[in-house]
Amino acid sequence: MNNYPLQEIRDDYASLHHLTYLNTGTVGLMSESVLARHLENLAAYERAGHVGEPDARAGYERARTSFANLINADPDEIALNRNASDGVNYVLAGLDLPDGAALLTTDQEHPAVLLPMTLASRQTNSDIHMLEIVDDDEAMLAQLRELLSTNRIHLAVISHVSCESGQRLPIAEICRICREHGVLTLVDGAQSVAQFPVDVREIGCDFMTGNGHKWLCGPKGTGFIYIRRDRTNLLTPPYAGDGSVDPRFDRSKFLKDAIVNEWGFRADAQRFEFGTRNWHLYGAVEDAVDQLAGIGWTAIQQHVAEISTELKSDLAERPGISLHTPMSWERSCGIVSFSADGWDGVELSERLWQDHQIIQRRVQIPSGVRISCAHYTSREDIQRFLSALDELMQPVRRKP
Ligand SMILES: Cc1ncc(COP(=O)(O)O)c(C=O)c1O
Repeated sequence: MNNYPLQEIRDDYASLHHLTYLNTGTVGLMSESVLARHLENLAAYERAGHVGEPDARAGYERARTSFANLINADPDEIALNRNASDGVNYVLAGLDLPDGAALLTTDQEHPAVLLPMTLASRQTNSDIHMLEIVDDDEAMLAQLRELLSTNRIHLAVISHVSCESGQRLPIAEICRICREHGVLTLVDGAQSVAQFPVDVREIGCDFMTGNGHKWLCGPKGTGFIYIRRDRTNLLTPPYAGDGSVDPRFDRSKFLKDAIVNEWGFRADAQRFEFGTRNWHLYGAVEDAVDQLAGIGWTAIQQHVAEISTELKSDLAERPGISLHTPMSWERSCGIVSFSADGWDGVELSERLWQDHQIIQRRVQIPSGVRISCAHYTSREDIQRFLSALDELMQPVRRKP
């Protein structure tokens, strides 16, 4: 894309001057302009203490609106938290799983999903069923229908984009089929939000979790859970504190016996928020969103689609490389995963970093490497990575 202001964008990222950063799927880089405001927010609140709280809280509330707007939710359907893992835990710990009910997930989930699920399964004696992610959407949906018809599944927790292969799942179809079977859906949006348009109303999910620190390039330790308004009462928070209850805490009433039993959780998603929080961290969520929106979501998507598609073609034509990410943009995103003959993924990932200072991440099944193409990724970054890969592959390719 000729008029994409790539150089201007890159100039705002200090470390891109000396690093080849291809790991936005783990954490994004924060631009210098967002960082400057982020540090101002931090200093203002830390210096002013209680006097600074209204401003810090105003930034926190703007983050709620920013996250809500990004996924077409309403702000009262958003609980702010630390990360995507928090959101999965909120749902699994908050749902009253009926006896004998089972859970469903996929075979490519992040520990953010798998660990809370196994915890819930231990605590409630529920089975976990696995949908196998395959490179054929229709076959995958048929498998889903079969699983839902033969098991009493209560909740499905499914990533919108696999953190392993980068495959974009037909999530609206998945949620529709779950709904037809009376199954609740929690979508893990950690790898989809800010990569391409995500609309919870179109997707039709009950819950969605996400974070500010990957593709949004916002502050670390900022995340959200979307709770569809009419599903709020399905979740009873495992913790209570000032801010999460209704009516608001009032000591004079609380000391009278009756009120002890009278409070309930707030009617909105904020039933999960209480106590003093890092209000000031969230101000930069809005700045990060605004920065990307200023570049243009469509322009970013077009840029990322172009370079990731080129990368996939380049990898596919190299001997000894197996690509794990679908070729089409509609079934993928900026994540590209592959395996290399003769290389374990962990080892290849380490050598790309140690020998070539290229930052990427290993994937485990199949063992390989994951490259993330983001709005600031250049063709030169990709060329540097491909040259490094070719160099590391030379001894393997030379073998008779
Ligand atoms: C699909 C997916 N879900 C969840 C997470 C965890 O996100 P967080 O660190 O915000 O809990 C990741 C992180 O890599 C991920 O890829």
